[in-house]
Amino acid sequence: MSPRNSLEPLISAEKIEVRVAELAHRLEHDHPGGDLVVVSVLSGSVIFLADLVRKMNLPMRIDTVSVSSYAGRAVAPGELKVLKTFSEDVHGKHVLLIDDILDTGGTLSAVIGEIQAMEPASLKTCVLLRKKKERNIDVKPDYVGFEIEDLFVVGYGLDCDGMYRNLPYIAVFNLT
Ligand code: IMP
Ligand code: MG
Repeated sequence: MSPRNSLEPLISAEKIEVRVAELAHRLEHDHPGGDLVVVSVLSGSVIFLADLVRKMNLPMRIDTVSVSSYAGRAVAPGELKVLKTFSEDVHGKHVLLIDDILDTGGTLSAVIGEIQAMEPASLKTCVLLRKKKERNIDVKPDYVGFEIEDLFVVGYGLDCDGMYRNLPYIAVFNLT
């Protein structure tokens, strides 16, 4: 870390663990039927995904997608491209889409569009973090781990320029 930047702890590893277990419990309860495909948006949600699915005692398949980056810019729906497409055919399956954070909503809305086009039996979305802010894009995740202020955060999978994903807690990244 550059000495000019600082990390201010926001959500501890213990709090994350408790909340992830609660989410897993609810997800397990809400998806009693089979044919579940969990789709994770790379790379930010991989740590959340790994912890969450290991607490869900359900038969499932796991797939990943990646979305073109936009370097912090607010984007309109359709502007982001889904780069890695699905390995699993989700037609007729129950899909649970996982992402790390809902910011503008551009990422989730792009992936939701791709999934809907394949006509799944159902689609639910789950994000670990949701920023409190006005959004031009209307995306409402079904499950949210924590609501946070509109700040730039890192850790537990979230990065700044590729770094800090391995921090076990979530911190506000301050450029000072
Ligand atoms: P959205 O498309 O604007 O909703 O942004 C979603 C994506 O932007 C997330 O999947 C993250 O990869 C990235 N992102 C948004 N806010 C943050 C942040 O505070 N820290 C790190 N990554 C972020
Ligand atoms: Mg991401």
